Amino acid sequence: MNFGGISVKARKIRIFDTTLRDGEQTPGVALRPEQKLQIAQMLNRLGVNAIEAGFPAISEGEKKGVGLIAKAGLAAQIYGLARAEKSDIDACVKVGVGSVHTFIATSDLHLKFKLKMTREQVLEKAVEAVSYAKSLGLDVEFSAEDATRSDREFLRQVYKAVAEVGADRVNIPDTVGTASPQEISSITKDVVGITSLPVSIHCHNDFGWAVANSVAALEAGAQSVHVTINGIGERAGNTSLEELAASLAYLNFNEKYETSIALNRIYETSIFVSNLVGIRPQPNKAIVGDNAFAHESGIHTHGVLSNPLTYEPIKPEDVGRSRTYYAGKHAGAHGVSAMLGEYGIAPDREQAKLILDQVKTIGDAGGRVTEVELLEIAGKVMSLRQFERMVHLTGFSVTTGIGNNPYAFVKLNIGGKDYVGTSDGVGPVDAALKAIKNVTGAWDNTFKIKDYRIGAVSGGSEAMCEVTVEVEDGGGSSAVAKSKGYDIVITSVQAMLEAINRAMLKKELKSIRQNV
Ligand code: KIV
Ligand code: ZN
Repeated sequence: MNFGGISVKARKIRIFDTTLRDGEQTPGVALRPEQKLQIAQMLNRLGVNAIEAGFPAISEGEKKGVGLIAKAGLAAQIYGLARAEKSDIDACVKVGVGSVHTFIATSDLHLKFKLKMTREQVLEKAVEAVSYAKSLGLDVEFSAEDATRSDREFLRQVYKAVAEVGADRVNIPDTVGTASPQEISSITKDVVGITSLPVSIHCHNDFGWAVANSVAALEAGAQSVHVTINGIGERAGNTSLEELAASLAYLNFNEKYETSIALNRIYETSIFVSNLVGIRPQPNKAIVGDNAFAHESGIHTHGVLSNPLTYEPIKPEDVGRSRTYYAGKHAGAHGVSAMLGEYGIAPDREQAKLILDQVKTIGDAGGRVTEVELLEIAGKVMSLRQFERMVHLTGFSVTTGIGNNPYAFVKLNIGGKDYVGTSDGVGPVDAALKAIKNVTGAWDNTFKIKDYRIGAVSGGSEAMCEVTVEVEDGGGSSAVAKSKGYDIVITSVQAMLEAINRAMLKKELKSIRQNV
């Protein structure tokens, strides 16, 4: 690494990913074995150093999933979780993992109300588990669960004892996220001093401190961080991989840190995991949230268009993202004109006012206008033919019922020419979208549906639904469109066509922009 011409040696930090274990403990999340394997492969490509693949002792499916990952030949070190019990450790060995993460609680609260054990018994169990795992030739990471609420002297005793019987690493869990960075720092220094082993930190986000606490541990000498993709995990989740990796790469701390994470793969991994676990990060989530690189207010849009550094601390492309401009009720004439100016479009004063008025009307109704939609508005106001929509729906029908496969027929007019397509599908929506794909594929086969989501806006059988469709063209550029309505099939068709039209326009705009 090189800072201002001075070469600085960075400390390598080990990224221990527990998306497939603590992440899967998120309420409502359960992955099938093949899905776990797919996520492990993505994590491996992302560059994590260790993957906690699951907890083999808890179910047959979990055994199968961890076994598949252990045998997949990944570069990352694969761990299975085990209570400090011989049977749990045996379950890890049986599925073929060579590394075990074994744990037992050490806080008096857990001892009294959960384990019903004395401190002496816990110490004995911890030593016995680590010795047993080592006797089987395993690589062992030991955790004192609820470490941050444990009596410090007892905690020292436990970590010292497991180090003496051969633990390879020790981990400090802040199990309910209650520690402050100062406390984490003090415990970490203690554990590093007493064991001389590589120390990991495992933080939960109950008070929103997981990333800050993980960094505090690194600053105090920890070498490894337990993380999950999108910060998923029990209750408020765990330290988020993307936030930690970006923080270590971009922010200044006492030391310089290096990880093996390919930052530009972060977003694709986040999307992949969120699709499989069925949880989307909140829009304002750092790095991976929908709004993390979106600009709406006039002042911000204008600033970013002049120089992105004004309101972007990270280049979106560095983390696999792209920048989005929105115009809404905060939009100003300056921002809107600057957005259009990027495409060589210069409305006169009257046109600019009409465009801004339409944007504000949408904004006041709670909506916001993407860059592509803004160009559509400008195209209409300024009668610019190149911004007219290419694809029009001219005919559509769908049949469904019991005994027959759902079947759809669509007629589209694309650039003045009529096309007809049909398809069956697993349901009426699937049939309709496939029929559209069959038509558009005959004319441009680079489009694919990247994301489809449906939600109810209101309740009851007359509920209104909202459909979001994202399509991607062969060049990797994607366009998202939303549609609201009472009929889920028609609303899905409308969203799909809107997304295709936007993707077309985006393609057109890309070439205009390159020539401006
Ligand atoms: O949060 C926690 O304490 C854990 C342990 C199993 C390490 O996840
Ligand atoms: Zn945990």
